[in-house]
Amino acid sequence: MTTRETPALIRVLGGESLPTPPIWLMRQAGRYLPEYRELRAKAGSFLSLCYNPELAADVTLQPIRRFGFDAAILFSDILVAPQALGQKLWFVEGEGPRLEPVADAARLAEIDRDADQSRLDPILETVRRVRAALPSGTGFIGFCGAPWTVATYMVAGRGTPDQGPAKELFGRDPVLFQAIIDRLVTSSVAYLNAQIAAGVDAVQIFDSWAGSLGPDDFRRWCIAPTRRIVEGVRAVHPQARIIGFPRGAGHLIPEYIEGTGVDAVGLETDIDRGFAREAIQSKVPVQGHLDPLVLRAGGPELEREVEAILTAFGDRPFIFNLGHGILPDTPIAHVERLLKRVRG
Ligand code: CP3
Repeated sequence: MTTRETPALIRVLGGESLPTPPIWLMRQAGRYLPEYRELRAKAGSFLSLCYNPELAADVTLQPIRRFGFDAAILFSDILVAPQALGQKLWFVEGEGPRLEPVADAARLAEIDRDADQSRLDPILETVRRVRAALPSGTGFIGFCGAPWTVATYMVAGRGTPDQGPAKELFGRDPVLFQAIIDRLVTSSVAYLNAQIAAGVDAVQIFDSWAGSLGPDDFRRWCIAPTRRIVEGVRAVHPQARIIGFPRGAGHLIPEYIEGTGVDAVGLETDIDRGFAREAIQSKVPVQGHLDPLVLRAGGPELEREVEAILTAFGDRPFIFNLGHGILPDTPIAHVERLLKRVRG
């Protein structure tokens, strides 16, 4: 039997403070890397890349090979979940995702007939390949979208500035909206458990649009479904490490931690550091929260921000990351500088 060194990421998620925090970046395998653009062109489209285990595993490993990040994140997308649930999904070059919107019960019944979780099998094969190739000591993160965030795309059929269509639907037909959320809870539990069984060390639940809800709706559509996912994963994998990322939830994050039972939370860029340290990091390890724009700009502002983040969070359990995904036009030299600065 081969034994693996416990990755720094997992030690921090278990509550340890490390003198040098582990670091990885959301969207670390992406368009800012020439080697990504090359494989992406070879695959033909983003989705064919996601469903090609050989290429997706290679893409997942690219930023590990180039930068030696402390964790790899599975290369895929949160919107493969509604696709497995039967909804048509495609990406428009330069614009983003499109789905056939689910706006009434008849449409939901229609997509249900096309549901097939085995569509996700190639992605689980990617997990097995990455696991086999990953250096010992490098963490491996799987993920899903949180039901609320995924539902905003399912209902609108695309990204929206204000998540208006989903909000309008839960106001008009909360029973239908709950039915959509319930399907996502069930399928996300199965999907995360399958990722863990295939070899990821931890999972992250991306709730990018959590900040667009008022407190009561946040409790109902973000906290409650996420809690059910956490319980469903822990029922099968009691040791599973789960990171929640309720982006923009701000002062409601402490309640999110209590309510969901996640092991750690990702912090958005604009959260107050004093508040985050006292009210959030006092409860669980935190991950974040450098502004992707500051990383792209580089220079003295990057140095100052990295310093401020390390000063605020570095003496307690902390994982260095961005507050949102890395921007496609980020210079590689700035990522190298960031790593040097964090690792001392
Ligand atoms: O962090 C990682 O690198 C892991 C892989 C990952 C991707 N998307 C790859 C991706 C993860 C975890 C996501 C999450 C995701 N996807 C979210 C939640 C986090 C967030 O960014 O808010 C959302 C809302 C999506 C849906 C999505 N996927 C959108 C809106 C877009 C288009 C915008 C864009 O950045 O192009 C995508 C495409 C996407 N997902 C790309 C990548 C690398 C770009 C694909 C390409 O054109 O090559």
